[in-house]
Amino acid sequence: MTTNKKCLVALTGAGISAESGFKTFRDSGGLWEEYSVEDVASIEGWYRNPKLMTDFYNDLRTQLEKAQPNDGHKILAELEEYFDVRIITQNVDNLHERAGSTNVLHLHGELTKARAVNNENKIIDIGYRNMSYDEKDSDGELLRPHIVWFGEAVPAITEAARLVRSADIFAVIGSSLVVYPAAGLVHDLRSNTESFLIDPKEVQVPAWLNFRVIREVASKGVAIMRDELLKEIKG
Ligand code: APR
Repeated sequence: MTTNKKCLVALTGAGISAESGFKTFRDSGGLWEEYSVEDVASIEGWYRNPKLMTDFYNDLRTQLEKAQPNDGHKILAELEEYFDVRIITQNVDNLHERAGSTNVLHLHGELTKARAVNNENKIIDIGYRNMSYDEKDSDGELLRPHIVWFGEAVPAITEAARLVRSADIFAVIGSSLVVYPAAGLVHDLRSNTESFLIDPKEVQVPAWLNFRVIREVASKGVAIMRDELLKEIKG
């Protein structure tokens, strides 16, 4: 169905879920201060110690069941009334969906899903329950969390780049833009795309991209962006 609404693409990172109680990765006190990335978020780590990695994602999944979307997630969902909103998220939580967003593309997988170790397209919903590290599906195939780990391809990146190229409005919300290929998506922007960057800290982006920087936490920054965008529409 085509709409005459402008296409608003949001690239979100861990920062948008910080106010929902989730640690980010690279802030002080972040997850990568507590865990070594190699041990809990790499394909080598999985083969080295699948139980440690399974427990890591079990803990995050348990936290997710209790977490709630914050205004950052909710306002993006509400903007679907005025824009064709497409979320590209690096996050593995389901807070965008639970806030009501209907177009969410997960670049790095989803906590509430598992997949066959030997078939990345064989994906099952597991909700918020724990997995065991040697869990098998009904066909006897070994399962793993449906997460894209360091050292693995990001199958959704092609679709994500297509979305960014189609964006009339683009927003980076809560990402340090240091992990590729996600961070490289800003280079797919058309030069006339109205772009926002919402983050309480400075994030390095190429100066020629001319982002409207909103130096706020997501719940406040997304509200400011919404007010500016609606003023443009309503005059
Ligand atoms: N609101 C908005 N942004 C915030 C908030 C907040 N309340 N708190 C922190 N931030 C910002 C930080 O300033 C930082 O720029 O969110 C960003 C978080 O950056 P990272 O921790 O690097 O998270 P992210 O960019 O999502 O990491 C990308 O790295 O480890 C991998 O797969 C993992 O998807 C993740 C990827």
